[in-house]
Amino acid sequence: MTLSPSLPNAHSPAEENVSILEIWGGQTLSGQVAVSGAKNSALVLMAGAVLCSDECSLRNVPSLADVSCMSEILAALGVKLERSGDRLIINASTIGQSKAPYELVSQLRASFFVIGPLLARLGVARIPLPGGCAIGARPVDLHVRGLQALGAEVQIDHGIVYAYVKGVNKRLKGAKIYLDYPSVGATETLMMAATLADGETTIENAAQEPEVIDLANFCRAMGAKIRGAGTNTITIAGVSRLHTADYSIIPDRVEAGTFLVAGAITRSEILVSPVIPDHLTAVIAKLQAIGVQVVNEGTHSVRVIPSQNILPTDIETLPYPGFPTDMQAQFMALLTLSEGDSIISETVFENRMGHVPELSRMGADIRIKGNHAIIRGVPMLSGAPVVATDLRASAALVLAGLAANGKTTIQGLHHLDRGYEQLEAKLQKLGARMHRVKSDVKVDDCDPVAMVSPKPSILNQPS
Ligand code: EPZ
Repeated sequence: MTLSPSLPNAHSPAEENVSILEIWGGQTLSGQVAVSGAKNSALVLMAGAVLCSDECSLRNVPSLADVSCMSEILAALGVKLERSGDRLIINASTIGQSKAPYELVSQLRASFFVIGPLLARLGVARIPLPGGCAIGARPVDLHVRGLQALGAEVQIDHGIVYAYVKGVNKRLKGAKIYLDYPSVGATETLMMAATLADGETTIENAAQEPEVIDLANFCRAMGAKIRGAGTNTITIAGVSRLHTADYSIIPDRVEAGTFLVAGAITRSEILVSPVIPDHLTAVIAKLQAIGVQVVNEGTHSVRVIPSQNILPTDIETLPYPGFPTDMQAQFMALLTLSEGDSIISETVFENRMGHVPELSRMGADIRIKGNHAIIRGVPMLSGAPVVATDLRASAALVLAGLAANGKTTIQGLHHLDRGYEQLEAKLQKLGARMHRVKSDVKVDDCDPVAMVSPKPSILNQPS
Protein backbone atom coordinates (compact mmCIF):
# COMPACT_ATOMS: atom_id res chain seq x y z
CA MET A 1 0.00 0.00 0.00
CA THR A 2 1.43 3.41 -0.85
CA LEU A 3 -0.48 6.30 0.69
CA SER A 4 0.68 9.88 0.02
CA PRO A 5 2.60 11.37 2.98
CA SER A 6 0.34 14.47 2.88
CA LEU A 7 -2.62 12.50 4.21
CA PRO A 8 -3.64 13.50 7.77
CA ASN A 9 -2.38 11.00 10.27
CA ALA A 10 -5.08 8.67 11.63
CA HIS A 11 -3.51 8.58 15.09
CA SER A 12 -3.84 12.04 16.66
CA PRO A 13 -5.29 12.18 20.19
CA ALA A 14 -1.85 11.84 21.82
CA GLU A 15 -0.36 14.46 19.50
CA GLU A 16 -3.44 16.48 20.16
CA ASN A 17 -1.75 18.37 22.95
CA VAL A 18 0.69 19.72 20.44
CA SER A 19 -1.65 22.02 18.62
CA ILE A 20 -4.61 24.19 19.41
CA LEU A 21 -6.51 26.63 17.26
CA GLU A 22 -6.46 30.38 18.01
CA ILE A 23 -9.23 32.51 16.49
CA TRP A 24 -9.60 36.26 16.66
CA GLY A 25 -13.27 36.95 16.10
CA GLY A 26 -15.16 39.82 14.56
CA GLN A 27 -13.71 39.63 11.03
CA THR A 28 -16.03 40.00 8.06
CA LEU A 29 -15.43 37.19 5.60
CA SER A 30 -15.76 37.41 1.83
CA GLY A 31 -15.07 35.50 -1.36
CA GLN A 32 -15.58 31.95 -2.56
CA VAL A 33 -14.86 28.75 -0.67
CA ALA A 34 -14.31 25.28 -2.16
CA VAL A 35 -16.21 22.32 -0.75
CA SER A 36 -14.40 18.97 -0.61
CA GLY A 37 -15.75 15.50 -1.36
CA ALA A 38 -18.19 14.09 1.21
CA LYS A 39 -16.58 12.32 4.17
CA ASN A 40 -19.65 10.17 4.77
CA SER A 41 -19.65 9.07 1.14
CA ALA A 42 -15.89 8.50 0.86
CA LEU A 43 -15.81 6.16 3.87
CA VAL A 44 -18.66 3.90 2.76
CA LEU A 45 -17.63 3.91 -0.92
CA MET A 46 -14.13 2.80 0.12
CA ALA A 47 -15.80 -0.11 1.95
CA GLY A 48 -17.97 -0.68 -1.15
CA ALA A 49 -14.87 -1.14 -3.31
CA VAL A 50 -14.25 -4.38 -1.39
CA LEU A 51 -17.25 -5.84 -3.30
CA CYS A 52 -15.30 -5.56 -6.55
CA SER A 53 -12.90 -8.26 -7.78
CA ASP A 54 -11.10 -5.70 -9.98
CA GLU A 55 -9.40 -2.38 -9.39
CA CYS A 56 -11.67 0.63 -8.76
CA SER A 57 -10.98 4.33 -8.69
CA LEU A 58 -12.65 6.95 -6.50
CA ARG A 59 -12.20 10.65 -7.22
CA ASN A 60 -12.88 13.77 -5.12
CA VAL A 61 -11.76 11.83 -2.02
CA PRO A 62 -11.10 14.31 0.83
CA SER A 63 -7.81 14.23 2.79
CA LEU A 64 -9.10 13.49 6.26
CA ALA A 65 -7.94 11.51 9.29
CA ASP A 66 -11.00 9.23 8.93
CA VAL A 67 -10.09 8.45 5.31
CA SER A 68 -6.55 7.56 6.39
CA CYS A 69 -7.92 5.30 9.10
CA MET A 70 -10.29 3.53 6.67
CA SER A 71 -7.37 3.10 4.25
CA GLU A 72 -5.32 1.42 6.98
CA ILE A 73 -8.20 -0.90 7.85
CA LEU A 74 -8.64 -1.94 4.20
CA ALA A 75 -4.89 -2.44 3.85
CA ALA A 76 -4.97 -4.69 6.92
CA LEU A 77 -7.57 -6.79 5.07
CA GLY A 78 -5.19 -7.18 2.13
CA VAL A 79 -6.58 -4.41 -0.09
CA LYS A 80 -4.09 -2.40 -2.17
CA LEU A 81 -4.57 1.38 -2.14
CA GLU A 82 -2.84 4.06 -4.18
CA ARG A 83 -3.50 7.71 -3.67
CA SER A 84 -2.65 10.57 -6.03
CA GLY A 85 -4.20 13.94 -5.28
CA ASP A 86 -7.91 13.45 -4.62
CA ARG A 87 -7.95 10.11 -6.49
CA LEU A 88 -7.85 6.80 -4.62
CA ILE A 89 -7.22 3.59 -6.55
CA ILE A 90 -8.50 0.59 -4.61
CA ASN A 91 -7.73 -3.01 -5.56
CA ALA A 92 -9.53 -5.63 -3.49
CA SER A 93 -9.01 -8.46 -6.02
CA THR A 94 -6.62 -10.27 -3.68
CA ILE A 95 -8.49 -9.67 -0.45
CA GLY A 96 -7.65 -12.54 1.88
CA GLN A 97 -8.20 -11.40 5.38
CA SER A 98 -11.69 -11.31 6.87
CA LYS A 99 -10.56 -9.96 10.24
CA ALA A 100 -10.30 -6.18 10.80
CA PRO A 101 -7.82 -5.00 13.51
CA TYR A 102 -9.46 -3.74 16.74
CA GLU A 103 -7.02 -0.88 17.32
CA LEU A 104 -8.06 0.68 14.00
CA VAL A 105 -11.78 -0.20 14.04
CA SER A 106 -12.11 1.28 17.52
CA GLN A 107 -11.07 4.63 16.08
CA LEU A 108 -13.57 4.69 13.23
CA ARG A 109 -17.19 3.55 13.56
CA ALA A 110 -17.66 3.63 9.81
CA SER A 111 -15.18 0.78 9.51
CA PHE A 112 -18.01 -1.53 10.62
CA PHE A 113 -19.52 -1.01 7.15
CA VAL A 114 -16.92 -3.46 5.68
CA ILE A 115 -18.84 -6.33 7.27
CA GLY A 116 -21.37 -6.31 4.39
CA PRO A 117 -18.83 -6.40 1.51
CA LEU A 118 -16.61 -8.97 3.31
CA LEU A 119 -19.55 -11.32 3.89
CA ALA A 120 -20.70 -10.84 0.29
CA ARG A 121 -17.20 -11.50 -1.16
CA LEU A 122 -15.76 -14.08 1.24
CA GLY A 123 -18.78 -15.50 3.08
CA VAL A 124 -17.08 -14.68 6.40
CA ALA A 125 -16.19 -11.56 8.37
CA ARG A 126 -14.75 -10.82 11.83
CA ILE A 127 -15.20 -7.19 12.79
CA PRO A 128 -14.76 -5.73 16.26
CA LEU A 129 -17.89 -4.05 17.62
CA PRO A 130 -17.27 -0.36 16.97
CA GLY A 131 -18.59 0.61 20.40
CA GLY A 132 -20.12 3.93 21.31
CA CYS A 133 -18.70 7.42 20.89
CA ALA A 134 -19.18 10.89 22.36
CA ILE A 135 -22.56 11.36 20.69
CA GLY A 136 -24.22 8.09 21.60
CA ALA A 137 -24.18 4.32 22.22
CA ARG A 138 -24.48 3.69 18.48
CA PRO A 139 -25.49 0.00 18.49
CA VAL A 140 -25.30 -2.11 15.30
CA ASP A 141 -28.31 -4.34 15.97
CA LEU A 142 -30.06 -3.27 12.74
CA HIS A 143 -26.98 -4.20 10.68
CA VAL A 144 -26.78 -7.61 12.39
CA ARG A 145 -30.49 -8.41 12.10
CA GLY A 146 -30.45 -7.49 8.40
CA LEU A 147 -27.42 -9.71 7.72
CA GLN A 148 -29.15 -12.58 9.52
CA ALA A 149 -32.20 -12.03 7.27
CA LEU A 150 -29.82 -12.43 4.29
CA GLY A 151 -28.84 -15.83 5.66
CA ALA A 152 -25.73 -15.04 7.67
CA GLU A 153 -24.97 -16.67 11.02
CA VAL A 154 -23.84 -13.91 13.38
CA GLN A 155 -22.19 -14.38 16.77
CA ILE A 156 -20.89 -11.60 18.99
CA ASP A 157 -18.13 -12.88 21.22
CA HIS A 158 -15.58 -10.92 23.28
CA GLY A 159 -16.47 -7.75 21.41
CA ILE A 160 -16.01 -9.32 17.98
CA VAL A 161 -18.86 -9.72 15.50
CA TYR A 162 -18.22 -13.04 13.77
CA ALA A 163 -20.48 -13.47 10.72
CA TYR A 164 -20.41 -16.31 8.19
CA VAL A 165 -22.57 -17.96 5.56
CA LYS A 166 -23.14 -21.69 5.68
CA GLY A 167 -23.34 -23.85 2.56
CA VAL A 168 -20.91 -24.70 -0.24
CA ASN A 169 -21.02 -21.43 -2.14
CA LYS A 170 -21.13 -19.34 1.06
CA ARG A 171 -23.48 -16.95 -0.78
CA LEU A 172 -25.99 -14.68 0.97
CA LYS A 173 -29.65 -15.07 -0.08
CA GLY A 174 -31.96 -12.24 -1.13
CA ALA A 175 -34.60 -11.34 1.49
CA LYS A 176 -37.24 -8.77 2.52
CA ILE A 177 -35.83 -6.55 5.28
CA TYR A 178 -37.75 -3.93 7.28
CA LEU A 179 -35.58 -1.50 9.29
CA ASP A 180 -37.07 -0.41 12.63
CA TYR A 181 -35.26 2.91 12.13
CA PRO A 182 -34.01 4.39 8.80
CA SER A 183 -30.38 3.95 9.85
CA VAL A 184 -27.87 5.27 7.30
CA GLY A 185 -25.22 2.72 8.21
CA ALA A 186 -27.55 -0.28 8.31
CA THR A 187 -29.08 0.67 4.92
CA GLU A 188 -25.58 0.97 3.43
CA THR A 189 -24.27 -2.29 4.96
CA LEU A 190 -27.29 -4.30 3.78
CA MET A 191 -27.43 -2.72 0.34
CA MET A 192 -23.76 -3.65 -0.19
CA ALA A 193 -24.23 -7.19 1.15
CA ALA A 194 -27.25 -7.76 -1.11
CA THR A 195 -25.44 -6.73 -4.34
CA LEU A 196 -23.74 -10.17 -4.56
CA ALA A 197 -26.52 -12.21 -2.90
CA ASP A 198 -28.46 -14.95 -4.63
CA GLY A 199 -31.84 -13.45 -5.50
CA GLU A 200 -33.65 -10.18 -4.81
CA THR A 201 -33.57 -8.11 -1.61
CA THR A 202 -35.83 -5.27 -0.57
CA ILE A 203 -34.93 -2.89 2.25
CA GLU A 204 -38.00 -1.08 3.61
CA ASN A 205 -37.91 2.03 5.80
CA ALA A 206 -34.47 2.56 4.31
CA ALA A 207 -32.40 5.71 4.90
CA GLN A 208 -32.73 8.25 2.06
CA GLU A 209 -29.55 10.28 2.64
CA PRO A 210 -27.60 11.56 -0.42
CA GLU A 211 -24.66 9.40 0.70
CA VAL A 212 -26.87 6.28 0.36
CA ILE A 213 -27.68 7.35 -3.22
CA ASP A 214 -23.97 7.99 -3.89
CA LEU A 215 -23.12 4.48 -2.70
CA ALA A 216 -25.88 2.95 -4.85
CA ASN A 217 -24.61 4.88 -7.89
CA PHE A 218 -21.05 3.66 -7.28
CA CYS A 219 -22.25 0.06 -6.92
CA ARG A 220 -24.31 0.39 -10.11
CA ALA A 221 -21.24 1.76 -11.89
CA MET A 222 -19.58 -1.54 -10.87
CA GLY A 223 -22.51 -3.49 -12.34
CA ALA A 224 -24.85 -3.85 -9.36
CA LYS A 225 -28.62 -3.89 -9.91
CA ILE A 226 -30.10 -1.43 -7.43
CA ARG A 227 -33.38 0.50 -7.65
CA GLY A 228 -35.03 3.00 -5.32
CA ALA A 229 -31.98 4.48 -3.54
CA GLY A 230 -33.09 7.82 -2.12
CA THR A 231 -36.58 6.48 -1.36
CA ASN A 232 -37.66 4.48 1.70
CA THR A 233 -37.71 1.23 -0.30
CA ILE A 234 -34.56 -0.07 -2.03
CA THR A 235 -34.55 -3.18 -4.23
CA ILE A 236 -31.35 -5.05 -5.08
CA ALA A 237 -31.18 -7.92 -7.57
CA GLY A 238 -28.03 -9.86 -6.66
CA VAL A 239 -25.34 -10.45 -9.33
CA SER A 240 -22.42 -12.92 -9.30
CA ARG A 241 -19.58 -10.35 -9.49
CA LEU A 242 -18.86 -6.65 -9.88
CA HIS A 243 -16.39 -5.04 -12.29
CA THR A 244 -14.06 -2.06 -12.33
CA ALA A 245 -15.42 1.49 -12.11
CA ASP A 246 -14.12 5.06 -11.97
CA TYR A 247 -16.42 7.15 -9.78
CA SER A 248 -16.45 10.70 -8.43
CA ILE A 249 -17.84 11.32 -4.92
CA ILE A 250 -20.50 13.99 -4.22
CA PRO A 251 -19.56 17.26 -2.48
CA ASP A 252 -19.83 17.32 1.32
CA ARG A 253 -23.23 18.84 2.19
CA VAL A 254 -22.26 19.16 5.88
CA GLU A 255 -19.06 21.05 5.10
CA ALA A 256 -21.08 23.26 2.71
CA GLY A 257 -23.70 23.85 5.43
CA THR A 258 -20.93 24.77 7.87
CA PHE A 259 -19.66 27.47 5.49
CA LEU A 260 -23.19 28.83 4.99
CA VAL A 261 -23.46 29.22 8.77
CA ALA A 262 -19.99 30.85 8.82
CA GLY A 263 -21.41 33.52 6.51
CA ALA A 264 -24.57 33.99 8.60
CA ILE A 265 -22.80 34.14 11.99
CA THR A 266 -20.15 36.65 10.81
CA ARG A 267 -22.69 38.66 8.79
CA SER A 268 -20.61 37.93 5.67
CA GLU A 269 -21.49 37.25 2.04
CA ILE A 270 -19.80 34.05 0.82
CA LEU A 271 -20.07 31.90 -2.30
CA VAL A 272 -19.96 28.18 -1.50
CA SER A 273 -19.22 25.60 -4.23
CA PRO A 274 -19.37 22.93 -5.49
CA VAL A 275 -22.63 21.92 -3.86
CA ILE A 276 -25.77 20.02 -4.87
CA PRO A 277 -28.37 22.54 -3.66
CA ASP A 278 -31.07 19.88 -3.22
CA HIS A 279 -28.91 18.21 -0.58
CA LEU A 280 -29.11 21.41 1.50
CA THR A 281 -32.87 22.02 1.35
CA ALA A 282 -33.55 21.68 5.08
CA VAL A 283 -30.46 23.70 6.01
CA ILE A 284 -31.28 26.52 3.58
CA ALA A 285 -34.90 26.59 4.74
CA LYS A 286 -33.76 27.15 8.34
CA LEU A 287 -31.31 29.88 7.30
CA GLN A 288 -34.11 31.64 5.44
CA ALA A 289 -36.39 31.22 8.46
CA ILE A 290 -33.95 33.23 10.56
CA GLY A 291 -33.71 35.99 7.96
CA VAL A 292 -30.58 34.94 6.03
CA GLN A 293 -30.79 34.81 2.26
CA VAL A 294 -29.32 31.86 0.37
CA VAL A 295 -29.42 32.05 -3.42
CA ASN A 296 -28.37 29.53 -6.05
CA GLU A 297 -25.73 30.70 -8.48
CA GLY A 298 -25.61 28.37 -11.45
CA THR A 299 -26.28 24.71 -10.74
CA HIS A 300 -23.47 23.99 -8.30
CA SER A 301 -23.01 27.12 -6.18
CA VAL A 302 -24.96 28.87 -3.45
CA ARG A 303 -24.38 32.37 -2.08
CA VAL A 304 -25.18 33.26 1.52
CA ILE A 305 -26.29 36.87 1.99
CA PRO A 306 -26.40 37.76 5.67
CA SER A 307 -28.94 39.81 7.57
CA GLN A 308 -27.95 42.11 10.40
CA ASN A 309 -30.46 40.53 12.75
CA ILE A 310 -30.68 36.82 13.35
CA LEU A 311 -34.23 35.71 14.16
CA PRO A 312 -34.89 32.78 16.55
CA THR A 313 -36.30 29.48 15.25
CA ASP A 314 -37.00 25.94 16.42
CA ILE A 315 -35.18 22.95 14.93
CA GLU A 316 -35.76 19.20 15.25
CA THR A 317 -33.11 16.89 13.85
CA LEU A 318 -34.50 14.04 11.74
CA PRO A 319 -33.41 11.48 9.16
CA TYR A 320 -33.07 12.91 5.62
CA PRO A 321 -34.81 14.85 4.15
CA GLY A 322 -35.39 16.25 7.64
CA PHE A 323 -32.92 18.65 9.30
CA PRO A 324 -29.52 16.91 9.56
CA THR A 325 -28.18 16.10 13.01
CA ASP A 326 -24.70 16.82 11.58
CA MET A 327 -25.68 20.53 11.33
CA GLN A 328 -27.28 20.77 14.77
CA ALA A 329 -24.23 22.07 16.66
CA GLN A 330 -23.37 24.64 13.99
CA PHE A 331 -26.92 26.05 14.08
CA MET A 332 -26.85 26.13 17.87
CA ALA A 333 -23.76 28.36 17.70
CA LEU A 334 -25.64 30.64 15.26
CA LEU A 335 -28.83 30.81 17.33
CA THR A 336 -26.91 31.87 20.45
CA LEU A 337 -26.79 35.29 18.72
CA SER A 338 -30.46 35.44 17.69
CA GLU A 339 -32.95 38.02 18.88
CA GLY A 340 -35.08 35.68 20.94
CA ASP A 341 -35.57 32.10 22.18
CA SER A 342 -35.01 29.01 20.04
CA ILE A 343 -35.46 25.31 20.84
CA ILE A 344 -33.29 22.65 19.25
CA SER A 345 -34.45 19.03 19.68
CA GLU A 346 -31.90 16.33 18.92
CA THR A 347 -33.85 13.15 18.02
CA VAL A 348 -31.20 11.12 16.14
CA PHE A 349 -28.42 10.77 18.73
CA GLU A 350 -28.99 10.61 22.46
CA ASN A 351 -25.88 12.52 23.57
CA ARG A 352 -25.09 15.20 21.00
CA MET A 353 -24.99 18.32 23.16
CA GLY A 354 -21.28 18.27 24.11
CA HIS A 355 -20.85 21.73 22.61
CA VAL A 356 -23.36 23.34 25.03
CA PRO A 357 -21.06 23.87 28.06
CA GLU A 358 -18.31 25.18 25.76
CA LEU A 359 -20.63 27.67 24.03
CA SER A 360 -21.83 28.71 27.50
CA ARG A 361 -18.19 29.35 28.42
CA MET A 362 -18.24 31.89 25.55
CA GLY A 363 -21.26 33.67 27.05
CA ALA A 364 -24.10 31.79 25.37
CA ASP A 365 -27.35 31.28 27.33
CA ILE A 366 -28.41 27.64 26.78
CA ARG A 367 -30.41 25.33 29.03
CA ILE A 368 -30.81 21.62 28.33
CA LYS A 369 -34.01 19.71 29.12
CA GLY A 370 -33.74 16.10 28.04
CA ASN A 371 -32.93 16.10 24.31
CA HIS A 372 -34.01 19.75 23.94
CA ALA A 373 -31.75 22.80 24.17
CA ILE A 374 -33.44 26.13 24.93
CA ILE A 375 -31.26 28.89 23.51
CA ARG A 376 -31.85 32.48 24.64
CA GLY A 377 -30.09 34.79 22.20
CA VAL A 378 -27.38 37.12 23.53
CA PRO A 379 -26.01 40.27 21.86
CA MET A 380 -22.40 39.03 21.75
CA LEU A 381 -20.18 36.03 22.45
CA SER A 382 -16.76 36.52 23.99
CA GLY A 383 -13.62 34.60 23.11
CA ALA A 384 -12.55 31.90 25.63
CA PRO A 385 -10.51 28.68 25.84
CA VAL A 386 -12.79 25.79 24.89
CA VAL A 387 -12.51 22.05 24.20
CA ALA A 388 -14.09 20.20 21.28
CA THR A 389 -15.86 16.96 22.26
CA ASP A 390 -16.74 15.60 18.81
CA LEU A 391 -16.49 16.43 15.13
CA ARG A 392 -19.49 18.73 14.67
CA ALA A 393 -19.05 20.28 18.13
CA SER A 394 -15.57 21.35 16.99
CA ALA A 395 -17.06 23.03 13.92
CA ALA A 396 -19.58 24.86 16.11
CA LEU A 397 -16.78 26.20 18.32
CA VAL A 398 -14.86 27.44 15.27
CA LEU A 399 -18.00 29.27 14.08
CA ALA A 400 -18.62 30.78 17.53
CA GLY A 401 -14.96 31.84 17.66
CA LEU A 402 -15.28 33.62 14.29
CA ALA A 403 -18.19 35.68 15.68
CA ALA A 404 -16.91 36.22 19.22
CA ASN A 405 -15.31 39.29 20.64
CA GLY A 406 -11.58 38.65 21.25
CA LYS A 407 -9.58 35.45 21.12
CA THR A 408 -10.91 31.88 21.32
CA THR A 409 -8.58 28.92 21.70
CA ILE A 410 -9.86 25.47 20.78
CA GLN A 411 -8.43 22.17 21.94
CA GLY A 412 -9.47 18.76 20.66
CA LEU A 413 -8.52 19.41 17.02
CA HIS A 414 -8.27 15.67 16.25
CA HIS A 415 -12.06 15.81 16.12
CA LEU A 416 -11.99 18.60 13.54
CA ASP A 417 -9.37 16.87 11.39
CA ARG A 418 -11.53 13.80 11.17
CA GLY A 419 -14.11 15.55 9.03
CA TYR A 420 -12.95 18.93 7.70
CA GLU A 421 -10.26 19.17 5.02
CA GLN A 422 -8.00 22.22 5.48
CA LEU A 423 -10.70 24.16 7.35
CA GLU A 424 -8.35 26.85 8.65
CA ALA A 425 -6.74 27.47 5.26
CA LYS A 426 -10.17 27.76 3.63
CA LEU A 427 -11.43 30.19 6.29
CA GLN A 428 -8.17 32.18 6.27
CA LYS A 429 -8.62 32.60 2.51
CA LEU A 430 -12.03 34.15 3.26
CA GLY A 431 -10.35 36.59 5.67
CA ALA A 432 -10.60 34.81 9.02
CA ARG A 433 -7.88 35.53 11.58
CA MET A 434 -7.01 32.10 12.92
CA HIS A 435 -4.09 29.69 13.10
CA ARG A 436 -2.87 26.56 14.78
CA VAL A 437 -0.26 26.95 17.43
CA LYS A 438 1.81 24.54 19.40
CA SER A 439 0.68 24.25 22.97
CA ASP A 440 2.87 23.28 25.90
CA VAL A 441 -0.19 22.41 27.95
CA LYS A 442 0.70 24.94 30.71
CA VAL A 443 -2.21 26.00 32.86
CA ASP A 444 -2.46 29.77 32.67
CA ASP A 445 -4.71 32.41 34.07
CA CYS A 446 -7.31 32.24 31.29
CA ASP A 447 -9.42 29.61 32.95
CA PRO A 448 -9.39 28.21 36.50
CA VAL A 449 -10.52 24.74 35.36
CA ALA A 450 -7.08 23.93 33.97
CA MET A 451 -7.63 25.21 30.45
CA VAL A 452 -4.33 25.56 28.57
CA SER A 453 -3.01 28.73 27.02
CA PRO A 454 -0.24 28.11 24.56
CA LYS A 455 3.20 29.73 24.30
CA PRO A 456 2.57 30.75 20.68
CA SER A 457 5.01 29.41 18.05
CA ILE A 458 3.15 30.14 14.87
CA LEU A 459 2.59 26.97 12.78
CA ASN A 460 0.67 28.58 9.99
CA GLN A 461 0.38 32.33 9.99
CA PRO A 462 -2.68 33.49 7.97
CA SER A 463 -1.27 34.71 4.63
C1 EPZ B 1 -24.16 8.20 9.71
O1 EPZ B 1 -23.88 7.52 10.94
C2 EPZ B 1 -23.10 9.31 9.62
N1 EPZ B 1 -21.78 8.71 9.64
C3 EPZ B 1 -23.24 10.27 10.80
O2 EPZ B 1 -22.32 11.33 10.62
C4 EPZ B 1 -24.63 10.85 10.81
O3 EPZ B 1 -24.81 11.64 11.94
C5 EPZ B 1 -25.68 9.71 10.84
O4 EPZ B 1 -25.46 8.80 9.74
C6 EPZ B 1 -27.10 10.23 10.76
O5 EPZ B 1 -27.27 11.02 9.63
C7 EPZ B 1 -21.29 8.15 8.50
O6 EPZ B 1 -21.93 8.07 7.48
C8 EPZ B 1 -19.92 7.60 8.57
P1 EPZ B 1 -27.38 5.84 11.81
P2 EPZ B 1 -24.59 6.11 11.27
O7 EPZ B 1 -27.12 4.40 11.69
O8 EPZ B 1 -24.73 5.34 10.03
C9 EPZ B 1 -29.34 4.21 15.84
C10 EPZ B 1 -20.72 12.96 11.24
O9 EPZ B 1 -20.74 13.90 12.06
N2 EPZ B 1 -29.00 2.87 15.35
O10 EPZ B 1 -28.34 6.46 10.86
O11 EPZ B 1 -23.86 5.50 12.39
C11 EPZ B 1 -28.09 5.02 16.21
O12 EPZ B 1 -27.63 4.71 17.50
C12 EPZ B 1 -21.30 11.59 11.61
O13 EPZ B 1 -20.23 13.05 10.11
C13 EPZ B 1 -29.42 1.77 16.06
O14 EPZ B 1 -30.10 1.90 17.09
O15 EPZ B 1 -26.01 6.65 11.76
C14 EPZ B 1 -28.58 6.45 16.09
O16 EPZ B 1 -29.20 6.85 17.26
C15 EPZ B 1 -21.76 11.51 13.03
N3 EPZ B 1 -29.07 0.53 15.62
C16 EPZ B 1 -29.57 6.35 14.94
O17 EPZ B 1 -29.91 4.98 14.79
C17 EPZ B 1 -28.31 0.35 14.48
O18 EPZ B 1 -27.99 -0.80 14.12
C18 EPZ B 1 -28.99 6.87 13.62
O19 EPZ B 1 -27.83 6.14 13.31
C19 EPZ B 1 -27.89 1.48 13.77
C20 EPZ B 1 -28.24 2.74 14.22
